[in-house]
Amino acid sequence: MKNFIAPSILSANFAELGKEVDSVISAGADIIHFDVMDNHYVPNLTIGPQVCKSLVDYGVKKPIDVHLMTSPVDELITQFSDAGASMISFHPEATQHVDRSIELIKNNGCKAGIALNPASPLSLLDHILEKIDFILIMSVNPGYGGQKFIANSLEKIKKCKEIISNSGLDIEIEVDGGIGINNIKTIKESGANIFVAGSAIFNSDNYEDTIKKMKQEISAE
Ligand code: DX5
Ligand code: ZN
Repeated sequence: MKNFIAPSILSANFAELGKEVDSVISAGADIIHFDVMDNHYVPNLTIGPQVCKSLVDYGVKKPIDVHLMTSPVDELITQFSDAGASMISFHPEATQHVDRSIELIKNNGCKAGIALNPASPLSLLDHILEKIDFILIMSVNPGYGGQKFIANSLEKIKKCKEIISNSGLDIEIEVDGGIGINNIKTIKESGANIFVAGSAIFNSDNYEDTIKKMKQEISAE
């Protein structure tokens, strides 16, 4: 499966968001990870569909990957797909009807993802595996950038990969939280192929150098 580096704009300088997104794209970003927090499902409060639309209108062509850390989710699914999102994930505990929310994402033409918190079991994927395009495994508790990677996430990624392989389905594994040059290789070896990194990229002095190093770490020998 192809690997993708997805910088999380949560750690970008919001006063210069368009430029920041341009910079990570020219530095080699494949996907733009867009964290939506509502001060309800998670303690933090971030950005909404208008900001997504502004980025698209500004000329961002790379896929925008909207990670909804909100409750409820359905109304925002519609708003973000209208705003130009390509991928939308949500936390199953945050919606009343998981299957319906997935359908809504697909019917709006976006790739659908299920986001699992560190303590959320993989059994939440039962009965919906056939319908989703990717699984977002949180390797920190959602709400903030710059947290430490939770080590036992690796075991969970491996189990998730096994479930997918046994199903014969074409589902991608995205991992989000605490990823950097030093641990991206082990995360890939555990089975992930989409790597979200916020602080490791935006807090570095040279985005291109950081993304290049990340790609080197995950490129097959
Ligand atoms: C956390 C967000 C992450 C976060 C990752 O709730 O979902 O996408 O921005 O940031 P880092 O890479 O700094 O852990
Ligand atoms: Zn995220």
